[in-house]
Amino acid sequence: MWLLPSFRAALAWALLSLVLGTELSLQESLLLKSLGLSAKPSPKAPIPVPSVLWKIFQQRRTLPAADRAPRDGCRVEEFNVPGNIIRVFADRGHFLHQGQPQGLLCLQKLLYFNLSVLAEDELLTMARLEVRFSHSSYQPSGQGQLFELRLYRSSQLALQGTSPQGHSRKLLLEQSFAQLHKSLLFNLSTVAKDWRSFGRNLGLVLEISVSSSEDPVALASRGLQSPCGSISSFLDTSLLVVSLSPQQCKASRSKRSAQYPPGTGSALCKPRRLYISFSDVGWENWIIAPQGYLANYCLGQCPFPLTAELNSTNHAILQTMVHSLDPEGTPQPCCVPVRLSPISILYYDNSDNVVLRHYEDMVVDECGCR
Ligand SMILES: *[C@@H]1O[C@H](CO)[C@@H](O)[C@H](O)[C@H]1NC(C)=O
Ligand SMILES: *[C@@H]1O[C@H](CO)[C@@H](O)[C@H](O)[C@H]1NC(C)=O
Ligand SMILES: *[C@@H]1O[C@H](CO)[C@@H](O)[C@H](O)[C@H]1NC(C)=O
Repeated sequence: MWLLPSFRAALAWALLSLVLGTELSLQESLLLKSLGLSAKPSPKAPIPVPSVLWKIFQQRRTLPAADRAPRDGCRVEEFNVPGNIIRVFADRGHFLHQGQPQGLLCLQKLLYFNLSVLAEDELLTMARLEVRFSHSSYQPSGQGQLFELRLYRSSQLALQGTSPQGHSRKLLLEQSFAQLHKSLLFNLSTVAKDWRSFGRNLGLVLEISVSSSEDPVALASRGLQSPCGSISSFLDTSLLVVSLSPQQCKASRSKRSAQYPPGTGSALCKPRRLYISFSDVGWENWIIAPQGYLANYCLGQCPFPLTAELNSTNHAILQTMVHSLDPEGTPQPCCVPVRLSPISILYYDNSDNVVLRHYEDMVVDECGCR
């Protein structure tokens, strides 16, 4: 099985200590590590969950099991790229200029996305910048005006309020709009890949200006609405990054959510119902969704003769035969998970970014005697 043995051991320990009510901290840190986290996140200024992540999360969860095509855990089908982690980075930059037009420039902001949380072996497969406005705006005064958006790559980090004007910077893209939409999307995959080399991420400069046949200062002095008016609906920018963590990724497996009765009744090996609530382990303030999930577990006897329903291996069948002859010398085969399915978890990481991550082998679907 693909899962790190340490993860399984950690999960088993965590569950066991829940049952025993013992100290969780060591088990917790083992579990967090296998989830790719250095410490338990404690979001300080969490950004709202981006709707695109909610949508993907809901889609993965609400499709009826039967309609669900076998899902490749290593692809984000919504974007058609390889990946098992989707992060949305909040912008940590600052305004260089906003408000009253300076010439034709309405807005100038340094954008900074700290990608250092990506593990070294993660493969970045997609990065998309979103520039958001609180509403779509039409041409403010309709006189052939255009909004012009420019994005530069800065070549000197100007995080502390210094104007990048004098600094060298490279134009990445330039686009004109007759109308500002609520959300503008730009493909930054190449830039973001390059940012991951040490010292290469110096941020971006976003500029929005208006081009008009009339000077905005003259317009304003005649009491007309400032041409920058609708740009004040600027909200924020964020960077959506898809990556592939090779350790935690395995090729396609059919997905089926199993609902099992509580562990009563038959003593034979079978899946038993176990609901793991993230608030019971004190994780409710950084795991956004789900609040818990049906993990199930395997329990029961593997008696002689083993029947086909017990999904045994030839080895297990022979072992029960030997066990029936020599119960003291040879144990019964063990009742263990033989089919598991994945879940997706939406959470805040240690830098308050929102992450949607796919985890294999989180739910026991079938058990067998092995
Ligand atoms: C980026 O984040 C890391 C921690 O994840 C931090 O150590 C580093 O200082 C941050 N870099 C900047 C420029 O903010
Ligand atoms: C983004 O740009 C990269 C590199 O130019 C390209 O390979 C990729 O297909 C683009 N993605 C989208 C969604 O257009
Ligand atoms: C064995 O596998 C079958 C499907 O292959 C499944 O229906 C059955 O529940 C499994 N047995 C156990 C004990 O999980």
